[in-house]
Amino acid sequence: MSIWRTKSIEQSIRDTDEPGHRLRKDLNGFDLIVFGIGVIIGTGIFVVTGRQAADNAGPAIVVSFLIAGLVCALAAMCYAEFASTVPVAGSAYTFGYASLGEFVAWIIGWDLVLEFTLAASVVAVGWSGYAGDLLGVPTTIEVAGWPVNIGAMFIVLVLGVLGVLGTKLSGRVSAVIVAIKVGIVLLIICVGVFYIRVANWTPFIPEAIDRPAATDSIGHTPLTQVLLGLEPSQYGIWGVIAAASVVFFAFIGFDIVATTAEETKNPKRDMPIGIFGSLIIVTVLYMAVAAVVTGMRPYTELGTDAPLAEAFRAVGADWAGTLISLGGVIGITSVILVLMMGQSRVAFAMSRDGLLPRGLSKTHPRFGTPYVMTIVTTVAVMVLAGLVPIGTLEEMVNIGTLFAFVVVSIGVIVLRRTRPDLPRAFRAPWVPVLPIVAALACVWLMLNLTVDTWLRFLVWMAIGVAVYFLYGRRHSRLGRGEGVAAPGSAESGSA
Ligand code: ALA
Repeated sequence: MSIWRTKSIEQSIRDTDEPGHRLRKDLNGFDLIVFGIGVIIGTGIFVVTGRQAADNAGPAIVVSFLIAGLVCALAAMCYAEFASTVPVAGSAYTFGYASLGEFVAWIIGWDLVLEFTLAASVVAVGWSGYAGDLLGVPTTIEVAGWPVNIGAMFIVLVLGVLGVLGTKLSGRVSAVIVAIKVGIVLLIICVGVFYIRVANWTPFIPEAIDRPAATDSIGHTPLTQVLLGLEPSQYGIWGVIAAASVVFFAFIGFDIVATTAEETKNPKRDMPIGIFGSLIIVTVLYMAVAAVVTGMRPYTELGTDAPLAEAFRAVGADWAGTLISLGGVIGITSVILVLMMGQSRVAFAMSRDGLLPRGLSKTHPRFGTPYVMTIVTTVAVMVLAGLVPIGTLEEMVNIGTLFAFVVVSIGVIVLRRTRPDLPRAFRAPWVPVLPIVAALACVWLMLNLTVDTWLRFLVWMAIGVAVYFLYGRRHSRLGRGEGVAAPGSAESGSA
């Protein structure tokens, strides 16, 4: 069956040398950690933490972060093995193509493209809100009766131009941004610690209560509660787990580090450094921020748009509140930037394989960037963020990412069996037990997302299947016999 055809690792690596479709290799391990932190720390810790503490977990949001961080660490082992074995653009998409076949790869690519686009749009809207707050001007205006978020459109346009000009320039800019962002997070921890009132940590896990009528619809209930026939509830131990599956959003990004493998000088050594380095740093920072903020304010008062800044204003440290707002605006910028870059890299890899139109994967003759795809991404994110009213869609982003993690974990086991000969600079320990546990842990978090999120995700995937059978399957270069050279053959297979 052609839809299960796999693309050999050798072919994937050879394709990266195709003239006119080649990316520049200039990132090292440190660049990757900076890149990782640049995308990981963003709306998740700045906004979602407070909302989840207020609605689901209380002070035990610290535990939710620990759970989400551990699940990510398991998945990271699998990502690191794959990224150090298959150092080409496209992350989980490329891994899927090598191990589980074209159809699964397409599904993953489709999943990632929309996930990144949606995530970038959601985060851009958040940026616009902070920017408006800081400048004291509205960033959304009405045009012919329709609200247009000009703040979000502006930032996406600026970042799109940076993307076309090149990773190096974007990398330098994001290094400065990351330094400011980490500084702000450290300020929250070091100053906030003096305002902690231990009484705010009690009860640590608020007692479970029935869901308020407004949110009592089945769509807002985590799927697990429906499947297990539980009374829809808030707080309690189920609340801590539900919060874990939402604050997972705050960790998204370490996987995007793997999408830059093709642009890394020594991916075998640098990929594990980049992925684990950034993941460990942010897990420690997140747990500390969560502990400090729930200690500063009663958890019920944290469900606001800028909970971190407001916690400081509420205790009289207005100067810190303003600095945190400023840091939020600057810090969130790099998240949008890297999400847009990750998106264009995945779509670039899919186009190079012929599953999306080939013209999309042209690289710029001077800047070496996938400029066509970057421009398409920029326009898509500007339209979504600027014109479509999007609420809190972070759960959609989470379900898509967790799904990709499941496929990568299974892919590690498959590739160990089908290609035991491949050199693996990083080997995940305890295979197949660890990848199985990683996949199950991701499925468990997925199941704790709401029924509405599941329905939207299934519709999104069904559209993807249709597009594959109508376009990708027929235009696939692998399917047309281009690029099916035997492993190890010197023939490039590309026209
Ligand atoms: N992890 C990123 C954030 O929290 C997506 O904004």
